[in-house]
Amino acid sequence: MLVSPSVLSCDFGNIQRDTQMLHNSSADWLHIDVMDGVFVPNISFGFPVLQAIRKHTDKILDVHLMIANPDAYLEEFKKAGADILTVHYEVCPHLHRTIGRIQELGMKAGVALNPHTPIEVLSEVAPMLDLVLIMSVNPGFGGQKFIAAANDKVARLKSLRQSTNSHFLIEVDGGVNLETGAQLAQAGADALVAGSFVFGASDPVATIAALKSL
Ligand code: DX5
Ligand code: ZN
Repeated sequence: MLVSPSVLSCDFGNIQRDTQMLHNSSADWLHIDVMDGVFVPNISFGFPVLQAIRKHTDKILDVHLMIANPDAYLEEFKKAGADILTVHYEVCPHLHRTIGRIQELGMKAGVALNPHTPIEVLSEVAPMLDLVLIMSVNPGFGGQKFIAAANDKVARLKSLRQSTNSHFLIEVDGGVNLETGAQLAQAGADALVAGSFVFGASDPVATIAALKSL
């Protein structure tokens, strides 16, 4: 299992310390949640924080854009250090073009689906995609309850991947812990995001290792 701890739940007064902790852990990626207060009812952080994280790790930065107009900032995110750039389906009227631009800029392209968005909307672009992010909470906040319908959605997405001859990774975000993570592993998830479960644990490094072994 690929594990992408969400920096949203770190101690921002100690971002260097927490980034270094993740860097020295078995985490595969660092998940970076960018929120604009428009697409989601919360504001997190932007480029300066992403650049600060980039300085302290060479691990893959898995950037999840919860912003209304991602097309305007794709190049800026590349410059700030993003390796994987995930946009929400719900704000991309020209998704095919957006995915192509992200890849032309040298990043892996991901598309996130809100809990209400059916996976079938991706069937035409599926072969282009590097990653699909299934939201198992309504985006905007860490620490929310896992929406169990995500398990079946992951299983159906795995079939869609096969039927469209695609190669994208399936990542799941929201309410992930060892119990929900085990269900998602069973359903076919390739990567798990975990914020509050990792940073709320007494031993975050051991918690990351436990998620990896699912
Ligand atoms: C939620 C964010 C998540 C969040 C997950 O909108 O996209 O990445 O950090 O937090 P937990 O793991 O606490 O649900
Ligand atoms: Zn996220």
